[in-house]
Amino acid sequence: MKPFTRVEATAAPLMIANIDTDQIIRIDRLIEHRRGELGPFCLEALRYQADGSENPNFVPGSARYRGAAILVAAENFGCGSSREHAVWSLVDSGIRVVIAPSFGDIFYANCFQNGLLAVRLPAADVAAIAGQLAGSASPVMTVDLHACTVTTPSGEVLTFSVEPERRAALLEGLDDIGMTLRDRALIEAFRRDDEAAHPWVYRRTEKATMKKILILAGDGIGPEVLAQARRVVEWFAGHRGLRLDLREELFGIAAWQTHGHLMRDETWRAVQESDAILFGAIGSPDYASIPAEHRKVDQLLRMRKELDLFCNLRPVRAIPALEDSSTLRPEVLRGTDMVLVRELAGGIYFGQPRGIEALADGHRRVVNTMVYTDREIERIARAAFELARTRRGQLCSVDKANVLENGVLWRETVEALHRAEFPDVQLSHMYVDNAAMQIVRNPRQFDVIVTENLFGDILSDCAAMVAGSIGMMPSASMSAPSDARPKALYEPIHGSAPDIAGQGVANPLGAILSFAMCLRYSFGQPQEARFLEDAVDRVVGAGVRTRDIAVPGGTVVSTVQMGDAVIAELTRSPESA
Ligand code: IPM
Ligand code: MG
Repeated sequence: MKPFTRVEATAAPLMIANIDTDQIIRIDRLIEHRRGELGPFCLEALRYQADGSENPNFVPGSARYRGAAILVAAENFGCGSSREHAVWSLVDSGIRVVIAPSFGDIFYANCFQNGLLAVRLPAADVAAIAGQLAGSASPVMTVDLHACTVTTPSGEVLTFSVEPERRAALLEGLDDIGMTLRDRALIEAFRRDDEAAHPWVYRRTEKATMKKILILAGDGIGPEVLAQARRVVEWFAGHRGLRLDLREELFGIAAWQTHGHLMRDETWRAVQESDAILFGAIGSPDYASIPAEHRKVDQLLRMRKELDLFCNLRPVRAIPALEDSSTLRPEVLRGTDMVLVRELAGGIYFGQPRGIEALADGHRRVVNTMVYTDREIERIARAAFELARTRRGQLCSVDKANVLENGVLWRETVEALHRAEFPDVQLSHMYVDNAAMQIVRNPRQFDVIVTENLFGDILSDCAAMVAGSIGMMPSASMSAPSDARPKALYEPIHGSAPDIAGQGVANPLGAILSFAMCLRYSFGQPQEARFLEDAVDRVVGAGVRTRDIAVPGGTVVSTVQMGDAVIAELTRSPESA
């Protein structure tokens, strides 16, 4: 948040009582636009007439108030349902101060937490200021938060009062969390004393939060990107008190070269004992030189199956700074924010029978089997419904019910669960071929998509173009949360990319953002996940780019330099102080 001290600027009067937060920002604008983009829509309900033309009676719209940073309003400004978006839209449109006789309570509190100064003055003073603004040649006034004064257009100085905590928050540019963190030393001292007095309380939490994390970097670019993700993990352990027991094992070709196994037994034991695995990638042309019996089992699929990691989340978000990295047009992908929920432990990846057989006539025949029980469908659908509930409440189930019985059972099961447990979620169905088209045609239409294993594999690569580059995309694969000891594996979805392996050019952000998912799901620390995701957004927003997301003519950084930039951003963040 920008610190606030003094504003000398054009002020615009808007003397209508009871302007509510829905009039300040229409709710439907929030579906497609985020904080920072709401300015053009601020007060549009008043600014425009039903036919879309400018409302001539909307006073702040007149040319003399252009560029106003101060709004002078009537009673009860910001009443109503009071979302913080109302404040964001005012701030986005350039307003720094609102002066009014009274405010909606929550709106008033939101102002101070989001960098907007709300000044309460007696109704007669506000009316006088509005009159002066209308009458004066230059409707300019000054608001000084240090002195707590308002200088009216005619030069009169009025004082106002504001709660000391709120004033301090604005002067220092701190939101609630920032204000609390100012007292970090006190909080930590309290914790130390309290722990000395009540050690048993802390022993229990330590046990509960200490997680075993296993790094398996694997093949291709896996080791390069995971080295950077590891630095981030260690940064969180060193700077944010993240409690973990970190271990790294060779996996894939590197394990074959050192141990003569793609995954030796000791590594498999570590896999089974870990709470979360940070995985790099699997796949290399070198597998061709390994004896067939050793590569018969795909070790990544083995982990997915044996740890029962059936629930695979692949979030896809259009990052504004990366709009130009996608081959899709910016206006198509802008505002996309969806999660693909892929069933990961069943379907054609694991179904029996499977294999290539020789026929008597000398030809060959191949079989793969797509199998699902209704229980398997139901548990992944439940996870997706639950996720949709925490988001925009829309679930699109993708199948091929027009051709495959698999799709028929899928659809029936999803519908039955919808009726029984999730009638509040808006459910739609799509055939997979159409879904592939819709994801590139209009990705914004999706909130949560749920689909079976193979379809999810294909659709998630397709959706990656929306994020600008597949190098940016994280994923989480999880077992049932009700398991005695839930398991999870986090991996970037880009794969091993043997063509660029070893060159130090791969984008480590998919791996780093996968660790953010680990913070969210395995450590139960969504705020820490967000902290890391925001840091990554800022790094990319500042123009730090690996080759895959480079802008023409811009500087390209290496894998390690991208890691450096993320660590530097985390360290620089005010929250890290
Ligand atoms: C993925 C990958 C894997 C899959 C491969 C590497 C087995 O493409 O995670 O999307 O097909 O599931
Ligand atoms: Mg894939």
